[in-house]
Amino acid sequence: MDNLTDDFELTGGVGIPCIGYGTWQTPDGEVAAASVAAAIEAGYRHIDTAAVYGNEQSVGEGIARGGVPRDQLFITSKLWNTERGYEKTLAAFEKTCADLGTDYLDLYLIHWPASEHQFEDWEEVNLATWRAMCELHQAGKIRAIGVSNFLSHHLEALMKTDVAPMVDQIEFHPGCMQAKTVEYCREHGILVEAWSPLGCGRVLQNADLGAIAAKYGKSVAQICIRWILQHEVLPLPKSVTPSRIRENADVFDFELSAEDMAAIDALGEFGGSGLHPDKVDF
Ligand code: A2P
Repeated sequence: MDNLTDDFELTGGVGIPCIGYGTWQTPDGEVAAASVAAAIEAGYRHIDTAAVYGNEQSVGEGIARGGVPRDQLFITSKLWNTERGYEKTLAAFEKTCADLGTDYLDLYLIHWPASEHQFEDWEEVNLATWRAMCELHQAGKIRAIGVSNFLSHHLEALMKTDVAPMVDQIEFHPGCMQAKTVEYCREHGILVEAWSPLGCGRVLQNADLGAIAAKYGKSVAQICIRWILQHEVLPLPKSVTPSRIRENADVFDFELSAEDMAAIDALGEFGGSGLHPDKVDF
């Protein structure tokens, strides 16, 4: 990957720009609109949002302000947990598109799996949602479909359908590697995307990462993003600060050595959100 617009290729052939601009916890209104426009100005062409973030209209406003033709952008959104099931998924998709001001999505994800903890028939619930996603994909309204926060057993249930998920967006950053899920995705041609690539800011003070960053003359945030890319995972850094938005995209002029990659891999668990897909109550 040499720049922000270089693509990973999804199963099915759709290209996805290798760094996405994240919008979780970006306040609705002017902050979201201005920061999305700033990201597009900085060269991001991949914007990641979700219905539950409550900012899709403002993200749409920022996309319009960015002034880049729609077909040069890659827009992802996610189906929230209250909207699972065939009919509700179709309706939620329409609302998301209307809020974003687009008539199609590049990528639509099931935000969290229905789990055993909440549903006796969790597999059926996920399959009904997935059937709607597949139909929308088939109809050309979504270019690629996938999931988020799915562990291997959740994915396994969907692999029996005609179209397998193309993406799994999970928490992934130094200190949180989810090796089992990542390995499953690799074996099945599913691209892993990293939410909270900076651990929501929690990993930025880590002294070991700081020492590596100093060695390369880069920030810890840049080290995290670069480490994720070199793992062939797609990072989705979020910032509402224009200088950081640019900083997080400036990761193509250096390469982490194999030793430093391994050293970061070996740091152990830290900075995680603690959210477990089979235990969350939402
Ligand atoms: P802000 O949005 O106020 O600029 P993550 O992408 O892991 O969810 O992390 C997002 C958090 O990290 C936000 O609090 C964001 O702050 C902060 N952040 C994003 N980029 C940087 C950066 N380059 N340096 C320091 N903090 C950053």
